[in-house]
Amino acid sequence: VQYSVAQRKNVRILLVGDAGVGKTSLILSLVSEEFPEDVPPKAEEITIPANVTPEQVPTNIVDYSSTEQSDETLNEEILKAHVVCIVYSVEDDVSLDRITSHWLPLVRNAIGTEQTRKPIVLVGNKVDLIEYSTIDSVLTIMEDFPEVESCVECSAKTLHNISEMFYYAQKAVLHPTSPLYIMEEQD
Ligand code: GTP
Ligand code: MG
Repeated sequence: VQYSVAQRKNVRILLVGDAGVGKTSLILSLVSEEFPEDVPPKAEEITIPANVTPEQVPTNIVDYSSTEQSDETLNEEILKAHVVCIVYSVEDDVSLDRITSHWLPLVRNAIGTEQTRKPIVLVGNKVDLIEYSTIDSVLTIMEDFPEVESCVECSAKTLHNISEMFYYAQKAVLHPTSPLYIMEEQD
């Protein structure tokens, strides 16, 4: 088993997930440290300078919007990203089910035959709306999809775990816990 040890000069984080789960709100909340009441469909790509990131690495954060982008563009963005955050809404079971029925297979397909695995972080947004946790379901997903490095429940509205979410994404690239290079089977 070969582990990824390469030190990166930057980290590119892509947020995907069903419409309305709060991808754009999460990015704008991180940047402005307050919940934006009105959000555009897609946030502009932002670069966070190294000195204000926990791992001291310049970090690009890229939004995705199904209303503004084609499937082809999404595939290209997945290939360019170093880590993909799949966002769901904790109060929307459909968005949670779609992690395994749609998003994880889509990321695998986009990577195709490349010998690298894209680390994934599962992000449950809108915890301000519920009084239970979805982490049990998410841990089950993690057993079946080893590329999922970590998971976090957060709220763009209350800013709960927002900086943690982006830290986990950085960490998944810089300090992955599972091998990200899939070795070819030996005879
Ligand atoms: P698309 O761009 O359509 O794919 O959606 P999106 O994932 O970017 O979601 P967006 O940020 O536009 O948020 C959708 C709705 O959810 C908006 O009305 C937000 O105000 C709301 N929202 C986002 N985050 C939270 C949150 O943490 N808590 C609550 N209560 N509402 C939220
Ligand atoms: Mg959006």
